[in-house]
Amino acid sequence: MVQFEKETIASQWQSLDIENDLLSEAARSIGAGSATDAGRFWRLPTEHPDPIVLAGGIPDDTALPIEDLIDSFSKSIRDNFSDSLMYGGWFGYEGLRQLIADRQNKIEGTTLLPDNIIMHNGSSGCLENICKAFVGPGDIAIVESPSYSGTVRAISGFRAEVVEVPMDKEGINPDLFKETVESLAAQGKRVKLFYTIPDYHNPMGNVTTLEIRKAILEICAEHKILIAEDAAYTELYYDTPPPPSYYALSDGHGVIKMCSFSKILATGLRAGWIQARDELAAPLTKVRFDMGNSPLVHYALADLIESGKLDNHIDSMRALYKSKCRTMIDSLKKYCGPYVELDEPEGGYFLWVKCTQTKAFDLIQAAAEEGVVFPLGSIFYVDSSLDDSHFRLAFTRAPFEHLEEASRRIGKAFEKVLDIQN
Ligand SMILES: Cc1ncc(COP(=O)(O)O)c(C=O)c1O
Repeated sequence: MVQFEKETIASQWQSLDIENDLLSEAARSIGAGSATDAGRFWRLPTEHPDPIVLAGGIPDDTALPIEDLIDSFSKSIRDNFSDSLMYGGWFGYEGLRQLIADRQNKIEGTTLLPDNIIMHNGSSGCLENICKAFVGPGDIAIVESPSYSGTVRAISGFRAEVVEVPMDKEGINPDLFKETVESLAAQGKRVKLFYTIPDYHNPMGNVTTLEIRKAILEICAEHKILIAEDAAYTELYYDTPPPPSYYALSDGHGVIKMCSFSKILATGLRAGWIQARDELAAPLTKVRFDMGNSPLVHYALADLIESGKLDNHIDSMRALYKSKCRTMIDSLKKYCGPYVELDEPEGGYFLWVKCTQTKAFDLIQAAAEEGVVFPLGSIFYVDSSLDDSHFRLAFTRAPFEHLEEASRRIGKAFEKVLDIQN
């Protein structure tokens, strides 16, 4: 009988070069994720005793409806322990999907049925499912330039080539979009997917105009390019809702919409949903091997929707974030006026700020020393050399007094950098 030696097993494995001898090609092609995506707090490159972090797109946790969540989760276990604690299946709890379909139909004038809703692990889970069903090696995915960095990683993970097309405050440039599609087609390349964040964009904070939505829908229909519409921030308008979604405008033909409870409620629920016509929902569920998501979360969300508590919460978050956005903008103008340019967002979580006299890299280094941490604009591009002047501020999580103080510190950082340059 051979002697079992734990140490030998450990040393055999320790001699392996995981990166080169084990990792799949797909895994090798993916870049590093952000701290927020990894569930970590941004590590501060400073020893500042009282740091302020305006980095991740996270809701204000002091404003979470904790008592309502406790009630809904308790009720779900008490009243539905059998179903809520059992496998939920690929689509997710039907009662929740019915409520979501009814709610969306009321908001958007769509005609969704429960089977046009597929529950997922947040908007990220939706995108991964879309890529798994429709995107493969050699395919092209077009993204807005800039775009949410997590998406670019996810699409690269399916070994597609990610091509960026510039956008400005009106949305992606439809002429450049068309030119890009046609020139790729002329090279024999197939554009499969266009990923867009039309409402309160991450990182730009802008809304794509109705005219651009229509123009893009026409080009995509002609070239059979699937639109993956990320509506993570859509409901968080401050005063008036954004234009109709790509999904509503096309009645879902060629569009898969991804929605999330993360930004309107809490990121830790890991709940979101895909909206898709039957013919697209079928391949999406076919490639799911994860036994669905947590029915307990689905039952609790159904209770929050049915009781009207979710809508009340979203209403109050609109007012809260509108007010935080105002505080951030006013204090930036007060302390950094000559050094920045920005467009005021009409909803969402982010300010996209342009440094007018300095490189954004120098500014964020100096700001970290002053005790404020936020990401460089260039991380939101596939080609990071495309931008050296922007940074992004996420203002929703920090308390009001931190927003004012952050602007003061950023102002000091600008002065420091400009002194060095002068
Ligand atoms: C545009 C966008 N889509 C998706 C996500 C991921 O959200 P979820 O928690 O729904 O997976 C984020 C998170 O920051 C985001 O900004």
